Amino acid sequence: MTRREWLAGTAVAGALGAQTAGPKNTVVSSENGLRACEVAIAYLARGKDTLDAVIAGVNVNEEDPNDTSVGYGGLPNEQGVVELDACVMHGPTRRAGSVASLRGVKTPSKVARLVMEETDHIMLVGEGALRFAKSYGFKEEDLLTGKSRLAWLVWKRSLRDGSGHNNWTDGLDAPGRPSAALKVAFPEADEETLAWAVEQVLRPPTGTINCLALNRKGEISGVTTTSGLAWKIPGRVGDSPILGAGLWVDQDVGAAGSTGRGEENIRIAGAHTIVENMRHGMNPKAACLDALKRVARNFADDRARLEQFDLNFYALRKDGEYAAAALWDTRRRGGRMVRTKFAVNVDGSGRLEDTAFLLSRA
Ligand code: GLY
Repeated sequence: MTRREWLAGTAVAGALGAQTAGPKNTVVSSENGLRACEVAIAYLARGKDTLDAVIAGVNVNEEDPNDTSVGYGGLPNEQGVVELDACVMHGPTRRAGSVASLRGVKTPSKVARLVMEETDHIMLVGEGALRFAKSYGFKEEDLLTGKSRLAWLVWKRSLRDGSGHNNWTDGLDAPGRPSAALKVAFPEADEETLAWAVEQVLRPPTGTINCLALNRKGEISGVTTTSGLAWKIPGRVGDSPILGAGLWVDQDVGAAGSTGRGEENIRIAGAHTIVENMRHGMNPKAACLDALKRVARNFADDRARLEQFDLNFYALRKDGEYAAAALWDTRRRGGRMVRTKFAVNVDGSGRLEDTAFLLSRA
């Protein structure tokens, strides 16, 4: 009898088997994804596919009018039209799908999945993406909510010509003019909403949700979905639907995704870079930080220019080790600086954790 055969018949083998069992069900997401992680982990616990899990997770944000960086209620382009970007990758089948500049459909992640499953293409954009979605029964809706419309109007009112004039405020002929005060212009909006709107105008956000899932069989999938940069030029596409930038999944290695200023991520193909870093031996944290160093390098490490945007990376390795890293240790929320965080759920235990970071504002 060989040693292996002997071990196979003993209790020791059972114990060793348990130790080498697969990873735990793990879902990693951006800070706005705590609930998405919870939904996704419940899917995994029921033995559902990892892509089903992450899409169900981010659907929570896409359908939530209060998440103004994703799906329904997302901040619109400069013409007041919400344009959505999303992509998905399914590790086990090594397939991917993507949509960009999609108008009128609340859940672009579901449309990206249909592109993956039902077409011989990878990416559909604009009018073609909408027609495709409608042919599969998606309803075309106005995605602008009262809140995102208000923020857009506040942005319009903030634009000035050389003499300080703006066509979207009281005209020269208005009786008793001028009254550009927002409280007068929008009497139904409460102070908190107006302050929020001003904040969106001063610092146009690039929100987004990224969600990555790993199950006990070691299968991995991911999704990234967004309404993109607020007040963008119509047709602007960020990193979220760009495979290799906003998301990358390699079933042999792991997955990575991103939120924040897409232009800077595209310039380093962030998600692909991170997965390749992990393939070559870096742990998820080191892999994300290396990607951020490449971003900083593109600005010759000039803090003043780097300070003008946020960028976050998330990574989940095939063995269950995960990390997130941000360009900056803190980010602005409601007029104050807060520690940059990300969401994670391991086997039903969900929490926000601090990200690693490249630079400190301190
Ligand atoms: N990361 C989202 C965007 O830049 O559109």
